[in-house]
Parts: sequence; C-alpha cells; structure tokens
Amino acid sequence: MSKVNVAIVGATGAVGTKILEKLLERNFPSSSIKLLASKRSAGKEIEAGGQKFIVEETKPEAFEGVDIAFFSAGGSISEKLAEEAVKRGAVVVDNTSAFRMTEGIPLVVPEVNLDALREHKGIIANPNCSTIQMVAALEPIREKFGLKRIIVSTYQAVSGAGAEAIDELATQSNQLNERAEIEANLLPQAAGQKHYPIAFNAIPQIDAFDESGYTLEELKMMNETKKIFGMPELQVSATCVRLPVVTGHSESVYIELDRDDVSVADLHEVLRGAPGIVLEDDIHTQTYPMPLFAEGKDDVFVGRIRKDREQANGFHLWIVSDNLLKGAALNSVQIAESLVDLKTSIG
Ligand code: A2P
Repeated sequence: MSKVNVAIVGATGAVGTKILEKLLERNFPSSSIKLLASKRSAGKEIEAGGQKFIVEETKPEAFEGVDIAFFSAGGSISEKLAEEAVKRGAVVVDNTSAFRMTEGIPLVVPEVNLDALREHKGIIANPNCSTIQMVAALEPIREKFGLKRIIVSTYQAVSGAGAEAIDELATQSNQLNERAEIEANLLPQAAGQKHYPIAFNAIPQIDAFDESGYTLEELKMMNETKKIFGMPELQVSATCVRLPVVTGHSESVYIELDRDDVSVADLHEVLRGAPGIVLEDDIHTQTYPMPLFAEGKDDVFVGRIRKDREQANGFHLWIVSDNLLKGAALNSVQIAESLVDLKTSIG
C-alpha cells in the first residue's frame, strides 16, 4: 500500500478531531498529516496518538503536496476551498453538505455503494450522519428482500451541531441545576431568528426550514438515501429531532419491503454478521441499542425489530450509532482507505 500525505480541514472541530484519532488508531498509511483550521487556531498544538501536531491556517497553498484532504469545517469552507485542493492534486473527502447532491460527485457509504468511488473526479462526499447509519443498517435488508418505503424519526445528539453545541448543552444543564435563567444562543440553528434551550428539551428542528415545511436535515436524509441506494423511486420521509444527548443518534425507522412473507427472524439473520452492524435485539433481557452505549464505538446497532401489526410487508427498527464516528469521521476514513486500496490495485 502506498503512503499518502493527508490534510484535515476543521481539525480542531468535533468531527475533525475524530478523523485524526481514527487515522492514527487504524494505522492509515499516511506519510504526513497536516491539521488545518481557522486563522484563530493557527499555531495551536494538538497531541494525539503520542504525536504532536501544530495547527495551520487553511489557505489554498496549504494543499500543495496533499494527496487526500478531509474537509469538515462547514459547507461554505468546502465550497470555497475544495476545488483549490483538487487543483493542487488532492482528492477531497468532504464531510459537509456542499456537494452531496451534486451530479457526478459520488456520495459514499463503503458497505453500501463502494463502486461509486471509481467515478470520482476529485471530490467524494460523505453523507449526513443520520443517513449513514440508516442506510448501513438497511442495506443487508434491501439487498435480500427489496425496499419500497422508509419513514424515519430521528433522536439526534447535540455533537452533530459541533463542539459549541456540546458546550451549550453543558452550560444549560448547569444553569438548570443552579435554578438560574437558561441562555440559548445556538440551537436549533445558529443563523436562525430564535434559539431554544436543548437541556431537558426536544427540538423538532435541525437546520433551516424549506418552503415545503421540511427541514434541510430531513431533506438531506430523504434525498441522500435515494442517491446512495441508486433508487430515485424509493419512498422516503423523515422527521428530525434534536435531543439533549451529547453523542449518538437514534432512529425509529419504519420500512416496507418488496415481499410480505418475511419474518423478524429473517431480518435478524441478514443483520447478524452484516459488515459494521451489531444486532442488539432481545426483549427478554431488555437488550436494545442506546446512544450512551454506542458512543466511542464504530458499529451501527440495531434492535427493537417488530413486524407491523397491520401491514404484512412493514417492519419497525431502532437504529443507533455514534454520529461522530460511523456518522462522520469513521466513514470518511473508510472512504480514504478504499481510495488508497483502489489506487494500489490500479497502479
Ligand atoms: P477553529 O477551531 O479554528 O474555529 P465544529 O464542527 O466542532 O463546530 O468545528 C468547526 C471546525 O471548522 C473547527 O475546526 C474550526 O476551526 C473550523 N473552521 C471554522 N471557520 C473556519 C475557517 N474560516 N477556515 C478554516 N476552518 C474553519
């Protein structure tokens, strides 16, 4: 396997930090790792895996000599600088929503559509965190029994909104404990006209609203799922809710299959042993996935599988994963690993 020069844009952020951790933990074949962030962080020292790194400002010149650049500093930074990185010979693995729905840009979850990687022209998009864990869990079912419809409700952690949102939950929790007035400055959306407390609350808005009444997060789940599965005809509907959970997104997912002769045991069988999936489904021992126990783990956990009582081809599932890992950093690093393998295999 050849060695590559790597850059991480947004290296001081919630996802960027995890990308560095995963690269080191998985012995990614890098000859150098450059940490990039805003001007504010230039010169900052970061220690990881027993090594010291100095953060640099993100400028077009910073991409000279870089082979793979991870972007996780927000869509506007990707829009401004991803092409600059590509121009200098880097392949960009973009963790923002900037290019996910752009035609010709692959949107990849390696367990589902690895082949799409071969078509990249310099930029590869990493899907939305809620989308990744859902399609990873549904792919073995879709492959075996066909899929007609998905209706999903999410229970999303604050870390999906970045490091500042984690701080806001902690501050508000302290304010509540001290019976002080709760200050809300960030959620549901920094740029929004109103902010609501997330501590001890549930906010049915993630990202801005579209004219249709859906939020952009909901539309991302709906559109990205169709693109990753290559099924424009798939019926997908999403409701996305933010909860006072630090890390780990949960999803209540209703699916309708192409067949109506499938049992819960059949779904258990296809999920058991599927790549990156852990089945935690035993009501007799109260075994089911929960975000607190998924945090820090690479897998997607599935449980509470039930057949719908009215609809013969309908099933309900509960899907949980660490939104910063499989939902973001791990999936990006897996994409980069596949790129290196691909480069090695085609010379
Ligand atoms: P910085 O720490 O210097 O502000 P999160 O998703 O946790 O909110 O993190 C956002 C990441 O994006 C951080 O690493 C942040 O760096 C980075 N970032 C924010 N603004 C810029 C910018 N103008 N150029 C490059 N990186 C940026």
